[in-house]
Amino acid sequence: MLRIPIKTESAEYEAMIGGGLLARSGEVLRESLGGVRPTFVVTVAPVRKRWGKALAKSLQISGFAPEFIEMRNGERFKRLSTLESLAEEMIRLGADRKAVVIALGGGVVGDVAGMLASVYMRGVKLVQIPTTVQAQLDAAIGGKTGVNLKSGKNLIGTFYQPELVLIDPDTLATLPDREFRAGMYEALKAGIIGNATLFEQLEKTTIKALRKDCEFLMWAIAESVRLKAEVVSADEKEGDLRRVLNLGHTLGHALESATAYKHFLHGEAVAWGMQAAARISLEIGMCDRALYERIRNAVRAWGNLPVVTLQTGRALRLLQSDKKTEAGMVNFVLPREIGKVEIVKNVPEAAISAALTELRQDSRA
Ligand SMILES: NC(=O)c1ccc[n+]([C@@H]2O[C@H](COP(=O)([O-])OP(=O)(O)OC[C@H]3O[C@@H](n4cnc5c(N)ncnc54)[C@H](O)[C@@H]3O)[C@@H](O)[C@H]2O)c1
Ligand SMILES: [Zn+2]
Repeated sequence: MLRIPIKTESAEYEAMIGGGLLARSGEVLRESLGGVRPTFVVTVAPVRKRWGKALAKSLQISGFAPEFIEMRNGERFKRLSTLESLAEEMIRLGADRKAVVIALGGGVVGDVAGMLASVYMRGVKLVQIPTTVQAQLDAAIGGKTGVNLKSGKNLIGTFYQPELVLIDPDTLATLPDREFRAGMYEALKAGIIGNATLFEQLEKTTIKALRKDCEFLMWAIAESVRLKAEVVSADEKEGDLRRVLNLGHTLGHALESATAYKHFLHGEAVAWGMQAAARISLEIGMCDRALYERIRNAVRAWGNLPVVTLQTGRALRLLQSDKKTEAGMVNFVLPREIGKVEIVKNVPEAAISAALTELRQDSRA
């Protein structure tokens, strides 16, 4: 088992990573929480069906009496109304300030259950047990929680650090291939941002091989977690440093939003966004052609991505309304080398346009 420390201004905790960890979660939790507490597992039906029993059994052996609370599955239910129902259910089950909320599921469950823990009776303890690639190497680390409004994604939320993040890569075995691959683009992202070895290993492998190789998968998850942990440790609340994590996300969000979050999985949009970032970097002379091609090839190598139809005009309007845009200035995170990115303000429209033209062409090739 690997332990990665996360140290922010508000809290200090660990991400534990290991195959079979779910079956040992009871003892691990008892130690980390300093004893047994009333425990409420927030999850969704597909995850509960596959992994609920293993978690319940391990908790019970260690003396916990977990209650499972289900929310409806999917991004559509990442809403305040869900949070309210979950809180009512906790009240009904008698949860008081000593309660622990365990988030068992993907990023949606993690974000909702995290926010629930942060506001339920003004805050109860939280444990993250992420079960998607996206959540294991990204969403469960760093303490951002939130729900969507009709007006946009993640517009309401809190910063709330868990007591522990428990990552069992074995739980990924039941994840659909498309979800698995989409999440792994975030590992590729971590490589480009700050870990050349991770990038090199990932660019050499196929997604199929990666799925089968437990040891390599665990290493790739751990390296990605380590990078995110380092960044959020240095910058809990999204100053400049934390912004580097948005590589590929500026255009990625525009792609997602233009298609009402139905056409791309998040990681797939980020994959296109990383290719676009490489192209923009090339266009403005920040990197050489070799680097651009390397990133583009790495993104393309894992297979075709959903088609891009977004035109420049629409993209520019969407970028302007992005909540990360400040005073009309769109910030792009752009690669300089593998393992080194920079935040660039005032990227010329022509560069964005060239990148989008390339995405539209590549996606139809
Ligand atoms: N808080 C953060 O810092 C942060 C960072 C990145 C993303 N996010 C959020 O994460 C969310 C996306 O997370 P996601 O991609 O995990 O989506 P998700 O939570 O919707 O999970 C994807 C699908 O996989 C299913 N699933 C989960 N685990 C499974 C398993 N082990 N086996 C089989 N099926 C399983 C889910 O039920 C769901 O249908 C978005 O809402 C995004 O805003 C948050
Ligand atoms: Zn992301």
